[in-house]
Amino acid sequence: MSDASVKLQGWDESLATGNSRIDEQHQFLFGLVAEMSLLREEPREHSYVPLLVTTVASYAAVHFQEEEEIMEQSGFPLREAHQVEHQALTGWLAGFPSEYEAGRASLKDVVSHMQSWIETHIRQSDTLWVEHLKSLKA
Ligand SMILES: [Fe+2]
Ligand SMILES: [Fe+2]
Repeated sequence: MSDASVKLQGWDESLATGNSRIDEQHQFLFGLVAEMSLLREEPREHSYVPLLVTTVASYAAVHFQEEEEIMEQSGFPLREAHQVEHQALTGWLAGFPSEYEAGRASLKDVVSHMQSWIETHIRQSDTLWVEHLKSLKA
């Protein structure tokens, strides 16, 4: 069992937004978190952790930008609040490598934070703009 083991829940149909491109990106993000959970908190892999977290942050930024463009183009009224949620994760991830290097954050911290953030954000927030898009097409 790896040191970063938390009860990992992968992507499942209950998290589907109905937007296939966005769903693929969400699945990929869950996959990256699963990859992180397989690492071990040991010196041999220590330098790899900040690198992987930075890679996850880059991918998340691309995903967030794509969502924000969709929200802007569709006139989603809660766009700014949604962007604030995205910025919260982006900021947390940006601060992680230095916290990790200083020994104030662990691999388990980033895995559990990412896991719960992604799941909560998809269920409570991404579904809102997806519903907004559907209402425009109705
Ligand atoms: Fe999303
Ligand atoms: Fe989002």
